[in-house]
Amino acid sequence: MNDLAPYIETGKQLIDDFINAHFIKKGYDKKFPHNKFSLADAMLYTLAMPGKRIRPIILLLAAESLGFSDKKKLLPFASSLELIHSYSLIHDDLPSMDNDNLRRGKPTNHIVFGEATAILAGDALLAEAFVMLSDKDYVGEFDPVKIIETIRELSCAAGAGGLVEGQFHDVNSFGESLEPEKIEYINEKKTASLIASACAAGAILSGKDERVVSEFRKFGCYIGLAFQAVDDVLGITGNKEILGKTAGIDKTNNKLTMAENIGLEKTRELIKEYNEKAMAHLEKTGAETGMFIELINYLTDRIN
Ligand code: IPE
Ligand code: IPE
Ligand code: MG
Ligand code: MG
Repeated sequence: MNDLAPYIETGKQLIDDFINAHFIKKGYDKKFPHNKFSLADAMLYTLAMPGKRIRPIILLLAAESLGFSDKKKLLPFASSLELIHSYSLIHDDLPSMDNDNLRRGKPTNHIVFGEATAILAGDALLAEAFVMLSDKDYVGEFDPVKIIETIRELSCAAGAGGLVEGQFHDVNSFGESLEPEKIEYINEKKTASLIASACAAGAILSGKDERVVSEFRKFGCYIGLAFQAVDDVLGITGNKEILGKTAGIDKTNNKLTMAENIGLEKTRELIKEYNEKAMAHLEKTGAETGMFIELINYLTDRIN
């Protein structure tokens, strides 16, 4: 493995191609004459928009840093993370949640397709992730036990003990002044869980034991906490054109993020601490760390 920037570019292309081919294979684009669009149009509208694709890239990196170098075999697992993530973005933007009208530089899904279709497109993307993960044409060469472990890892991260739990606490605390520990808990659940599962899945698929998988999960949890803290800083300091989403939406929603609560300077220190803790776990795994050091810098210094 060499530099991160070309690695990300190649990874993004492979993931986007895999997702496109999957939807062509499935042919979900049926529409009745009275509909202006199909369910697949609404799903692909958000999914196919340019995002950072960081969760799939992290899964690829985790596996490769442990010596599993056949990227193509990892694509269904990596891509399924982008389906789960895209569903979470569609639902996150809904009027009953963050009520945002801009995502990935375009009007949000419910603005274009209406609220009911946006909810259904999200539901369908979440289920489709598991269709992808369990398709034997894609994953048939892996040990079935490893596939089940991976599915369990991702489904736990997505559900009631992970992303959905975090979103539940998040939307139900608008207007509340929470202690930093509670904000950290929400950030861990709503954002870090899925990133941690990407790391753990990479380790599982490369055949590593529970000790290594667990250290990778903890590494992912800390980079995920840092990721959300950076997102909250950018929500204050960033601008709409570069972010591709509404800066300042948290203030509009009366949501006290970590950056609003403890201030920008302390949040930047916290991000540094999270990154150091992440590295301490990574160093216990025996993985190649070079690309992850670059990844941490890229995620910390990003502007969108
Ligand atoms: C946005 O995620 C939601 C958070 C968890 C902060 P990303 O910043 O990864 O969004 P995209 O995929 O690049 O659009
Ligand atoms: C991030 O939520 C978590 C999920 C989308 C699951 P945010 O509301 O903080 O993310 P942005 O800023 O809208 O992307
Ligand atoms: Mg939100
Ligand atoms: Mg939001």
